[in-house]
Amino acid sequence: MKHVNNVSPASGLLAHSYYFINQFISCKMKEQAKEILTDNNYGGYTIPSPKLYPFQWNWDSGFIALGLSYFDKQNAYDEIRNMFKGQWSNGMLPHINFHHLDENYFPGPDVWGTAECQWAPRGLATSGITQPPVFGFVLSMMAGRLAGTDSAFDNLLKEIYPKIVAFHRYLYTQRDPYNEGLVYISHNWESGTDNSPLWDEVLDAIDTTNVRDVSALRRDLKNVDASQRPTNENYKRYIFLVDLFRSFKYDDSKIFEATPFAVQDVLFNSMLIRSNEGLIHLAGLLGEDSAEIQKWNEKTIAAINKKCWNEADGFYYDYNLKNKKQILVKVSNGFMPLFAGACSQHQSQILRNNLIQSFRAGNYMLCSSCAVDEPEFNPLKYWRGPVWINVNWMLYHGLQRYGFAAEAEQVKKDTLHLIEQTGFYEYFDPRFETKDEDRGLGGDHFSWTAALYLDFVDKAVKEM
Ligand code: GLC
Repeated sequence: MKHVNNVSPASGLLAHSYYFINQFISCKMKEQAKEILTDNNYGGYTIPSPKLYPFQWNWDSGFIALGLSYFDKQNAYDEIRNMFKGQWSNGMLPHINFHHLDENYFPGPDVWGTAECQWAPRGLATSGITQPPVFGFVLSMMAGRLAGTDSAFDNLLKEIYPKIVAFHRYLYTQRDPYNEGLVYISHNWESGTDNSPLWDEVLDAIDTTNVRDVSALRRDLKNVDASQRPTNENYKRYIFLVDLFRSFKYDDSKIFEATPFAVQDVLFNSMLIRSNEGLIHLAGLLGEDSAEIQKWNEKTIAAINKKCWNEADGFYYDYNLKNKKQILVKVSNGFMPLFAGACSQHQSQILRNNLIQSFRAGNYMLCSSCAVDEPEFNPLKYWRGPVWINVNWMLYHGLQRYGFAAEAEQVKKDTLHLIEQTGFYEYFDPRFETKDEDRGLGGDHFSWTAALYLDFVDKAVKEM
């Protein structure tokens, strides 16, 4: 008897059984993911995780909206609208919207004091810094499924598109002091990779002699193992920066002169490029002129390759505008130009090799947030080693974009394994030898893990 593809009946049966078991698991997990997003919904917006993060966060809400759009479109649209309610009149999109009061978080609205700032919205307290720009690509991805088929989506697009453009214009005018096309972040919290070893040299340079101690005010240590969280010394510096920004009433030109923290982050700028690309797509759908956005984008792509690419190491590094040097620490932010489509085929091959040698390194799940051969690598500590699902999701898309199908597949496999065998955690221990039930770290019931699981699984289904 001839067997198609040399598959014996027994192994064919096995393959079928695996297929059905996987389908069963993903159906069950999809239901759980939806439940998490429903539980964390506060009526129009979704908190990242109960206990640790009780408000609406900026880039979280983009990923969350994408996940919601698979099963609750109205909530996805509300999520985005409610995020943009916090937008400042100068275009800045804050990293947190405090839609309700909750004592269980520090620093809350009283510390940010943005009511004293002329650009902050009235009637909604927000933080005074931003986070990576995600809405251009989130809406562009949603448009692929929804534009022209759902009038509520088309209305949302018309309303939100100019607001995203205003946010990008804010970045290009207020955060690019030398008009290079690369925007800087003024706080590690703006990167989204809060406790990455990237920030050590910049933060260590801050003199804390007269800086207030906030250790007693922290709430995160009550809910998560303190050894996995940033140190009190670091928190002093985080709050020093917030107090500094507040003293200038969040005026970026004054802040840039005075701040010790001004970094052109690879992840932030890559997401800006990918979101510019999304906006150009959306402009086409809306009949808008995208010439300005195209110019921004060409400039940023050229600048990221000029200033952040390190030929000797074959890696993209952040650039510290204060000491005018690259920050030579290999972290997963360095792969994000793949997601942005900003590197050449040659660079992409070198990045792929780095991924296998320094991150997979034989026996680590993809993709640790810090290269395992870096001295600062720590498999348990917040952004210093563990795997984050949003980074994996961008890496997956980036590898696919450059034709690394097998590596992309491995990232997806590891991601699904982590979630299905461990749970919907905030981040995960990447070591092979760790038992699956012990891998989950940080917050549980984590919204973007649930949202991006839905996106991964939906795509997996489509690819089959
Ligand atoms: C942590 C993460 C940040 C995220 C926030 C809310 O601070 O570092 O990226 O936005 O939690 O989930």
